[in-house]
Amino acid sequence: MTARLAVFASGTGSNFVAIARAIEAGEVDADLVLLFCDQASAPVLDRAREFGVEALAFAPTDCESRRDYEQRILDALTERSVDLVALAGYMRIVKSPLLEAYGGRIVNLHPSLLPDFPGGHSIADAFEAGVPETGVTVHYIDEGIDTGPVIAQQRVALVPGEGLDDLEQRVHQVEHVLYPRVLQQLIGG
Ligand code: GRF
Repeated sequence: MTARLAVFASGTGSNFVAIARAIEAGEVDADLVLLFCDQASAPVLDRAREFGVEALAFAPTDCESRRDYEQRILDALTERSVDLVALAGYMRIVKSPLLEAYGGRIVNLHPSLLPDFPGGHSIADAFEAGVPETGVTVHYIDEGIDTGPVIAQQRVALVPGEGLDDLEQRVHQVEHVLYPRVLQQLIGG
């Protein structure tokens, strides 16, 4: 059955684009019914317009409280009968009541082999640590930062002499293939 999917993002939106393209190509059996963004001027909002996806943007500072913020997002998901939420560069922790209501139906993409290198600078952290490999993780979220049960991981070997920019690009390329594939696995059961 076609799933009703929402993507949450805060920035560039290259993974939003990868998901939207995979849906258009029939590789992911989903209707992309909402892009939610917590930054009023993030480039991902333009990407949503380009794909004709409804975009909704507000921040916790636009709400009475943090709980009200999560409740407003939850209301938007409920109104649109969203089945599954894909976090794609959404730079906030999802809290209750949203986390409680959508527990087990919110997945996140992270550019490292979790539990290694959680946080906001994972590719640079792995690069600076000089590890032989890093990678990409898709996982269910819980109340922690980049924690929660792992669904899939893909390794990316570091290449001696390669710069950080090139490594970042290779990690993102892996994300753009892995995330739509995992979403389809989840949707297809
Ligand atoms: C990705 O590397 C994702 O793993 C991380 O944030 C980045 C988002 O990139 N959580 P983009 O906005 O999808 O281009």
